[in-house]
Amino acid sequence: MTIRTTHEAAPHAGERPRVVLGVSGGIAAYKAAELLRRFTESGHDVTVVPTASALEFVGAPTWAALSGKEIATEVFENITEVPHVRIGQQADLVVVAPATANTLARAAHGLADDLLTNVLLTARCPVVFAPAMHTEMWEHPATAENVATLRRRGALVLEPAEGRLTGKDTGKGRLPDPDEIFALCSEVLARWTSTGSTDALADLAGRRVVVSAGGTREYLDPVRFIGNRSSGRQGYALARAAAARGADVVLVAANVSLPDPAGVKVVRVETTAQLRDEVVSAASGADAVVMAAAPADFRPTAVSDAKIKKATDGSAPTIELTQNPDILKEISHHRPHPGSVVVGFAAETGDDTGTVLELAKAKLARKGCDLLVVNDVRGGAVFGSPDNEAVILAADGAAVDVPSGSKNALAHVIWDQVVARLST
Ligand code: CTP
Repeated sequence: MTIRTTHEAAPHAGERPRVVLGVSGGIAAYKAAELLRRFTESGHDVTVVPTASALEFVGAPTWAALSGKEIATEVFENITEVPHVRIGQQADLVVVAPATANTLARAAHGLADDLLTNVLLTARCPVVFAPAMHTEMWEHPATAENVATLRRRGALVLEPAEGRLTGKDTGKGRLPDPDEIFALCSEVLARWTSTGSTDALADLAGRRVVVSAGGTREYLDPVRFIGNRSSGRQGYALARAAAARGADVVLVAANVSLPDPAGVKVVRVETTAQLRDEVVSAASGADAVVMAAAPADFRPTAVSDAKIKKATDGSAPTIELTQNPDILKEISHHRPHPGSVVVGFAAETGDDTGTVLELAKAKLARKGCDLLVVNDVRGGAVFGSPDNEAVILAADGAAVDVPSGSKNALAHVIWDQVVARLST
């Protein structure tokens, strides 16, 4: 349940969106300077509200210089402007990065003991928390309950990234890449601008989704492989969009060199067999599975341990291939649970047996999925491009034309179709 008041209003197209960047006291505070830069350079009006302990890590001059505004931390500064009420009320988006365990606890309990917590109580716009802390603190039941409380109230609390933490230890608790936090926040703002209400923003909250991306490789020997062409951009856009809509997302990525989307668990694989195992394991109990990856349909029957040498007589080796498992078909026929939605992709060129749409309809029936996103790839369109154009075919007979637009935009149309079919 999100708490709202009547003066809630989405930013109008063309206006400079007003962003409040709350910074709390963790070592990752220095990364928030990069996030601030991304917001200001792309035309946002940013007010930075650091906590007192954040200023121990990065001083007020840095925030003031990068935002072009004076910095306040306590409610009794600049009191004639009533900042503790005005900043929150006027915000179009509040993002707290890094959000420490202490700040999450204060927000969850509705405390108002500094400027940031006052802002959080007066804001009626979307609120994003990007937590960063040690794994033990993130996993502590107190933090877990605070996160659950904030999510229940409609805030978007991102899962921290995994990797190197402050000391020598590694684990879950890193602040996601600032560029990716920015990308996610931009999607939240864009959706709020277009829908005009925060109600539908987190329509995947409480849902678990699995997305696959990239192209698999099937090795012939330690250096050679046969593989499928795929940049992974559409799958990554789907994962980011789902995280921006509140989902718990696992992204199984095959040979993709893109940064991890914020708030998304990324599992890396190389081959179709590995992709199958990771997707099947992550799909257990999931609400939706979207197979945006391009798995190689065949693998060499034998993989040589040593590099295959050229024959002196100039002859080329014959490679025997074995068919790989069809992951989409398997997931469609063994549903993670009865109400789950399964989505496939089809890159078609059409041939003498049928048009692009005829082949796609046959594929939808053959695979047994609920939705099939059909790309017409005659002439090599789509691969690696930031844009995509598609038709979404549904097993219930519906067809949605998605005109040429960004892969992010297509990702949201796909999630709209998934949300409409999710069981309640
Ligand atoms: N797919 C899969 N497992 C495979 C191959 C494909 O799960 N071994 C999924 C893809 O992720 C995609 C969908 O199936 O969502 C369609 O992929 P495509 O390559 O078009 O399907 P194929 O079954 O390989 O059909 P075709 O005979 O046209 O190659």
